[in-house]
Amino acid sequence: MLFGEKIYLRGLELSDVSEIMKYWNNRELKQFLNAIAPHSIQEEEEWIKKTWDERKNGKSFLFGMVLLESDLYIGNVEVRILDTISRRGNLGIAIFNPEYWSKGHGTEAIGLILQYSFTTLNLHSVELEVFSNNPRAQQCYEKSGFKKTGVRREALFSNGSYIDIYLLDITKKEWRSANL
Ligand SMILES: CC(C)(COP(=O)(O)OP(=O)(O)OC[C@H]1O[C@@H](n2cnc3c(N)ncnc32)[C@H](O)[C@@H]1OP(=O)(O)O)[C@@H](O)C(=O)NCCC(=O)NCCS
Repeated sequence: MLFGEKIYLRGLELSDVSEIMKYWNNRELKQFLNAIAPHSIQEEEEWIKKTWDERKNGKSFLFGMVLLESDLYIGNVEVRILDTISRRGNLGIAIFNPEYWSKGHGTEAIGLILQYSFTTLNLHSVELEVFSNNPRAQQCYEKSGFKKTGVRREALFSNGSYIDIYLLDITKKEWRSANL
């Protein structure tokens, strides 16, 4: 488990499905994740089991974000290994309930998983994609030290129009100099 000031990160349990299902079919959340199809309880349970296998195989490390104060599970953060030679990873994050957005939990979770990525997994860089309709996530990533490296123009059809996808990354060196 990885501990921060207001949250901690832990592996997922099948019992977490009920909290995921409260929000996972919410359109407000899904527009930022490009997850267009609804999901069933059974699909979510299968998905959780898959995260256990991927962790065992060293392919991807997914953590549940939990509030220290109340022990409430509020979202997920993941680093997926893209390239074992160049040591590149991809970061994904989602806080399910919009009531918990913009309270600093995303920034804290990213700080924890970057530390894990660079010091435990020995990654060289971590990258991510964010949609142009998501300024909250962009601000959170920039605060966490990510830099914009490119744009996939009009690469996503969302809510009836084509929008850009921004590419961001952070190197271990940049992370280290910001966290001395
Ligand atoms: C993206 C996400 C993980 C960020 O976590 P969070 O806890 O909400 O983010 P934080 O509170 O740490 O930081 C958000 C920042 O954006 C700012 N912000 C909020 N709304 C904003 C807006 N409309 N425009 C610009 N900045 C905004 C906040 O003020 C805060 O910045 P500050 O601390 O400098 O004031 C979370 O909002 C989330 O899960 N959203 C839904 C799913 C999603 O978008 N996932 C990412 C897909 S790439």
